[in-house]
Amino acid sequence: METDLKQTEIQAKSEIKSAKTSADLDLVSKKYLGSNGVLRLSFKGLAKLPEAQRRKQGAFLNKVQKEIMGFIQEKSETLGKQKTVFSKDDSFDFNQPGERIVIGHLHLLTQLRREVEEIFQSMGFSVALGPEVETEWYNFDALNIPKDHPARDIWDTFWLKNLKLLLRTHTSPVQVRYMENNQPPLRVIVPGSVFRHEATDASHEFQLFQIEGLMVDRNVSVANLRAIIAAFYQRLFNKSVKTRLRPDFFPFTEPSFDLAINCLVCQGRGCQVCKNTGWVEMAGAGMVHPKVFQSAGLDPKKWQGWAFGFGLDRLAMMKYKIDDIRLFRSGDLRFLNQF
Ligand code: PHE
Repeated sequence: METDLKQTEIQAKSEIKSAKTSADLDLVSKKYLGSNGVLRLSFKGLAKLPEAQRRKQGAFLNKVQKEIMGFIQEKSETLGKQKTVFSKDDSFDFNQPGERIVIGHLHLLTQLRREVEEIFQSMGFSVALGPEVETEWYNFDALNIPKDHPARDIWDTFWLKNLKLLLRTHTSPVQVRYMENNQPPLRVIVPGSVFRHEATDASHEFQLFQIEGLMVDRNVSVANLRAIIAAFYQRLFNKSVKTRLRPDFFPFTEPSFDLAINCLVCQGRGCQVCKNTGWVEMAGAGMVHPKVFQSAGLDPKKWQGWAFGFGLDRLAMMKYKIDDIRLFRSGDLRFLNQF
């Protein structure tokens, strides 16, 4: 056994000598001193020997191990390393730079949703969620959009086969769900995916992300809506943003508005994004229709409220000057890694 060990020592020494890099040296170190290394196995072999022999062999083995450690230490210093490449009882190199672990990051829309939630929460709004598979009642009827009403055509719907269920076309159904379960006064925003059965192009997707807002109290007016919206954009874009309300139509609000902000790409001077108008439509909004209060079991004579709904995708396009909505869900890392 001693001659074997002597041989091992000579072999180790020559391998250490010819190591050119610290990585080479580590390999040698592992080969002889590692937990499955040559010496470790010899140490294990000792157990089977009778006492006297075990001592003798053990002492010799220790000596050889020390020698090899010494060679490695020496070599490691000549390779320009300051410290030992192994700790006493293992061969782990604490000086090796670690391997960089590639981890993912939150999707751009998730980051922006959280930012939006924080801003509204700081203004006293709660965050509520609703189901993506919705009933016809909540998505349409409860919102004053009866069957055969032409307004249903605004939202091209994905119907689920043989059921009175659909993929919600907007987050507005959660207005009713929320008012059924919470007594006013209330302020809430509802983030969520919505689905529309339509062809896609640079500004249309069949799945988009909406944020619904709802405020109900005894004395709520369009002025409140405007102030909250202005404060929101101000905070989000970190600069003063002009807002514009124009009359529009939604069956669940009266009066209804389309809400635009001055184009932040050209500062309102006119560009492709705003189609040279200086304004970009961001949201639908209005005062909650009495029929919607009734659907939720609230007395429209007692309560007033406003609601808005905007697309998070559109907001992200404005904030980061992105010109194609399809990029968000393309899974293209060249795009996603920029955010
Ligand atoms: N639900 C509307 C849409 O998706 C937006 C909206 C929400 C309008 C709330 C008015 C009030 O187009």
